[in-house]
Amino acid sequence: MNTLDDLIAKIDPERIPRHVAIIMDGNGRWANLRGRPRSDGHAEGVSAVHRAVEFSSDMGIEYLTLYAFSTENWNRPQHEVDTLMYLIGWAIERELPDLIRNNVKIRLVGDIPRIPADARQRLLNAEKATAHCSGLTLLMCLSYSSRWEITEAARRLAAQAAQGVINPEDISEELISQNLDTVGVPDPDLLIRTGGEERISNFLLWQIAYSELYFTPVLWPDFHKTTYAEAILDFQNRERRFGKTSAQVQNDPDSNF
Ligand code: IPE
Ligand code: IPE
Ligand code: MG
Repeated sequence: MNTLDDLIAKIDPERIPRHVAIIMDGNGRWANLRGRPRSDGHAEGVSAVHRAVEFSSDMGIEYLTLYAFSTENWNRPQHEVDTLMYLIGWAIERELPDLIRNNVKIRLVGDIPRIPADARQRLLNAEKATAHCSGLTLLMCLSYSSRWEITEAARRLAAQAAQGVINPEDISEELISQNLDTVGVPDPDLLIRTGGEERISNFLLWQIAYSELYFTPVLWPDFHKTTYAEAILDFQNRERRFGKTSAQVQNDPDSNF
């Protein structure tokens, strides 16, 4: 069993992913396994978020995107939705001083007006209070789904075309990227999903076109810095070719990853 220090020693500091995205799955099963209510799993998941943020900061990762609540998650039983919203608001407020101290900038992604007022206010407050921070950018995806995000972008661009602000031929991949909630953020280098499912569940479909995918059976509340370090090591052992040949990539002095 590798200790965290052993794993960190193996990580190449020159090839740290700039942007890591995580589908934090498995809270309910973690609780079920212990005969406890699903909400206990979500509460325990908050500690895993804390560890993931801390490790990302320590490793010099620039962007961490966390899938905290999907558009489809609104369809869960109302009491579970209520608990999750309460927990999200409570956790962000509790973590705020620590986030500011660690220079972490919060950015909210998703249909934020749909979040109940109490949690929404706490989230918006955290976004505002960390706007000056210049360390890790933490993108919190809430009431988010990629199809929702792309649909919104399409609607905005169509409106601009109808008003004559842009021409249809002006619509490029760049313009679409600029109209997504993740505008200005480089695409994820590494996407991690915990909980054992090997699917994307409507997360960042556009942005992960060339991301490396890492699936682990570890349930989110059990996600420790060692799990994270293992994912980064796995990422560093891959060859990202972006459609080119292996020889091309190996001869490219600029190909960092
Ligand atoms: C992830 O854990 C948290 C959210 C989706 C909000 P789940 O609640 O999906 O846990 P499982 O997948 O049922 O174990
Ligand atoms: C994905 O997990 C969404 C989040 C982690 C927020 P789900 O538990 O909702 O995904 P499915 O239903 O298993 O695809
Ligand atoms: Mg799940």
